[in-house]
Amino acid sequence: MTYNVGYIVGSLSRDSINRRLALALRRLAPAELDLVEIPIDALPLYNRDHDASYPPSAQEFKDAIASADALLLVTPEYNRSIPGVLKNAIDWASRPRGANALDGKPAAMIGASPGSISTALAQQHLKTILAYSDMPVMGQPEAYIQFTQGLIDAEGTVTVPSTAQFLSDYMTAFLAHVDRHHLPGPGASR
Ligand code: FNR
Repeated sequence: MTYNVGYIVGSLSRDSINRRLALALRRLAPAELDLVEIPIDALPLYNRDHDASYPPSAQEFKDAIASADALLLVTPEYNRSIPGVLKNAIDWASRPRGANALDGKPAAMIGASPGSISTALAQQHLKTILAYSDMPVMGQPEAYIQFTQGLIDAEGTVTVPSTAQFLSDYMTAFLAHVDRHHLPGPGASR
């Protein structure tokens, strides 16, 4: 079975190291995981006044989430939490009440930072948010990537073999997680 995995990069930066990490994961993923980015850069700020009629960019985003078999969140840490742009995207996907597109989707998270504890604290917050959103989130392995100069190039090639192996193993574990938790639905191609 091949799974349609939507990935979200929690950074809008042109030179994002997390985008490089996402490209690397796309290259290293098992063939059963077809990774496609779900962009968040066109989303307006969430406002519940639009719950009855989402703006087109938000509806498109929510539809992409709904049609994915699983989600991979690749995010920086901002001020020891997740970036506001990522929280905003999650808020759009989760509403209106009773129409949460995240409900039941298997998910995993990973992130890069130059810091020695990387994105550990952001991921702790993200786990709380995704658990509340009723998503089965992969617990292990955890992946906190300390980004050093040149670790991943602009095309997503990982230059350190042990890191490439770790990321490849991480994606293999994610496949097992998706196999275990995915819901039968429109996204999966059999
Ligand atoms: C950061 N950075 C950062 N790093 C970290 O490890 N913990 C943190 O809490 C923060 N906080 C933070 C806040 C803000 C507003 C910025 C702009 C940056 C540094 C961050 O890890 C670094 O800029 C990364 O390059 C961001 O990831 P992208 O955007 O390159 O993917």
